[in-house]
Amino acid sequence: MARKTVKKTTAAKAARKAPAAKKAKPAAKVAPAKTPAPYAMVAQKAGGVSVFKKVPLELSKPKKGEVAIRHTAIGVNFIDIYQRTGLYPIPFPTVLGGEGAGVVEAIGAGVKGLKVGDRVAYVVGTGAYASHRIIAADRLVKIPAKVSDQEAAAAMLKGMTVQYLLNDCYKPKKGDTVLFHAAAGGVGLIAGQWLKALGITAIGTAGGAAKCKLAKANGYTHVIDYKAKDFVAEVKRLTKGKGVPAVYDSVGKDTFPGSLKALRPFGIWVLFGQSSGLVTDFKLSDLAAGGSLSVTRPTLFHFIAERSELERRARQLFSMMRSGRVKIKVNQTFALSDVAKAHKALETRQTTGQTVLIP
Ligand SMILES: NC(=O)c1ccc[n+]([C@@H]2O[C@H](COP(=O)([O-])OP(=O)(O)OC[C@H]3O[C@@H](n4cnc5c(N)ncnc54)[C@H](OP(=O)(O)O)[C@@H]3O)[C@@H](O)[C@H]2O)c1
Repeated sequence: MARKTVKKTTAAKAARKAPAAKKAKPAAKVAPAKTPAPYAMVAQKAGGVSVFKKVPLELSKPKKGEVAIRHTAIGVNFIDIYQRTGLYPIPFPTVLGGEGAGVVEAIGAGVKGLKVGDRVAYVVGTGAYASHRIIAADRLVKIPAKVSDQEAAAAMLKGMTVQYLLNDCYKPKKGDTVLFHAAAGGVGLIAGQWLKALGITAIGTAGGAAKCKLAKANGYTHVIDYKAKDFVAEVKRLTKGKGVPAVYDSVGKDTFPGSLKALRPFGIWVLFGQSSGLVTDFKLSDLAAGGSLSVTRPTLFHFIAERSELERRARQLFSMMRSGRVKIKVNQTFALSDVAKAHKALETRQTTGQTVLIP
């Protein structure tokens, strides 16, 4: 997919359109570049992408245990869409966005280990779609050298998700072949590279030839175009009729009940999202019928609730990134004020890899 570029500011456009001066004027002093006035993209209510409104932000001072940051990059995630549409109910109006990177601008009382100017990143529930924010210091991690702000902003939620999926939900063993749906997506491209680094044979699914090609280039041994082919039959063929010990499934409605059918006896369905809609007709007896299967429905926030766990998982993620075993593919960037376009692209399956907003 062609890389989208960040839109030029209105001010820059206006400047380009301005008529040339008729007479040369004496050279004026060039004013230093101004950071744009602080603003947030507020979702006014649950609904379509038209709910976003640009609202000026009044910056306040961080309180005890808090830090003020200026965002340099903000990750866009499918969970933001679940929240915007009301699938995951939250109070409105609200500032969506759970993943970001930026620079520390002010520090509240009692905060240790951070100073003004530090590059930091985080994943929290909401509040990232803004040029600036106040955030609890114990949710921040420092961005290591060699990792860019955009990479960190794109990786905190999606990358630590892959970290816990592959370590705590089903830890693939040497010789395993596992199935990972939506392999060309934000989580999917990280997972393919991570699985390859572990030496695991991974089957990915993706919609369309271009996405399949991309997933194959990012660690998957086999990739099935599940729009064109029956992925269950393909998995059975590739595993000589056995099925896989684990399916990592974030698609939900459209991949159910196929994900269960692709499992071998005692296999686990790791259902961690529902980009195609909620699974509604699952029965516990399906697990018995499929071969004493199990299911888990995990969510990242439980895995990083403790500060020590956040640090440990972030350290492992950054180590994978710094070593080059996992490369973060920021394939789309949008201006923060164009967040509606970013949401539209993600929810209509136009994106690959990671999507980042630039304030
Ligand atoms: N539980 C957790 O802790 C956790 C954490 C992070 C993310 N997630 C979940 O992981 C999934 C991936 O997140 P992401 O932000 O990286 O998104 P993403 O994978 O980049 O985008 C979603 C992808 O899902 C596929 N898809 C299949 N049917 C779809 C449909 N009807 N509508 C839209 N997309 C559809 C599309 O890929 P194809 O075109 O190739 O089908 C699409 O590109 C999401 O479901 C998200 O909620 C869960």
